[in-house]
Amino acid sequence: MSNPRPPQSQKSASTMKAASSPSDSKTPTHFPTVSTPQRQFGETPGIPIGEWNHAEIAIGKRGYGKSTRLMERMDELNDEAGGAYKIGYSPEPRFPAGSTRFRIHYHEDIKSLERQLRRYPDDFHVLVGAEADPVVRFAEALGKSLKRKALGYWNRRGMALGKKAVPIILVVDEMMMLSGARGSASGGNSTVWFRQFLISLRHLHIAFLGGIQDSNSVSYVNASLATRIWCFRTTHEWALNSMRAAGLPKEKLELLPKLAVGEYIEVDV
Ligand SMILES: Nc1ncnc2c1ncn2[C@@H]1O[C@H](COP(=O)(O)OP(=O)(O)OP(=O)(O)O)[C@@H](O)[C@H]1O
Ligand SMILES: [Mg+2]
Repeated sequence: MSNPRPPQSQKSASTMKAASSPSDSKTPTHFPTVSTPQRQFGETPGIPIGEWNHAEIAIGKRGYGKSTRLMERMDELNDEAGGAYKIGYSPEPRFPAGSTRFRIHYHEDIKSLERQLRRYPDDFHVLVGAEADPVVRFAEALGKSLKRKALGYWNRRGMALGKKAVPIILVVDEMMMLSGARGSASGGNSTVWFRQFLISLRHLHIAFLGGIQDSNSVSYVNASLATRIWCFRTTHEWALNSMRAAGLPKEKLELLPKLAVGEYIEVDV
């Protein structure tokens, strides 16, 4: 049900982020990055390809904690995998401070994102700007190359399924800026490529985490392809309707307009 987050003061030091100012990307420091993968020393990191299956969407009104939850979830999934590539999109450099323990780098183009991801593979790399599509395309290309690498040079025609590889976590903070996700709750206008992307996530070794304020402004197809929806405060009748369509039972729907900041209802769909 609803899960109020403890106030900042109760957070343990290990969940606090090292640094996250936009200037990070301009002046990379040489401090080792902070990571606590849950695996033994010497063990190969990664998840078997085909078993990384997460398409999760946080929906709700402005300022009620979607981005904060997406960041916490990114950290959780990172730990589940024992380390992951973390890339994202946000219209502006504004992920809430303290919501992830990873260092955030904001990039204005994919070239810079790719370069810095190679350099700091354990940090969170975020594309900022008007369009989220390039970072989704990049994640797709990265997923394919990870699969090729998992197979190895002499087995290029083999099956990547089941081979261990470090997975990707893709966080799109504002799905409205993703042309492929647009449409309306009542008419599935989302473009074919994005739908194909969503259904291929497991094969691309990508976990998708998306945030959206208005559940009516993204195609219902996206919600129907999600594995989990995080519902934050919602008051608009039509938005509530599309959450009902996504599978939220009546008693939980009634709670949505009353949720406070940081409270959410989790639905596995
Ligand atoms: N569980 C929580 N407990 C206390 N404060 C929280 C919690 N979750 C979020 N907040 C605070 O609420 C504010 C808004 O959070 P956040 O930016 O995550 O919301 P949002 O839904 O993503 O908003 P927007 O739609 O405008 O992007 C932030 O200042 C954040 O620190
Ligand atoms: Mg937000």
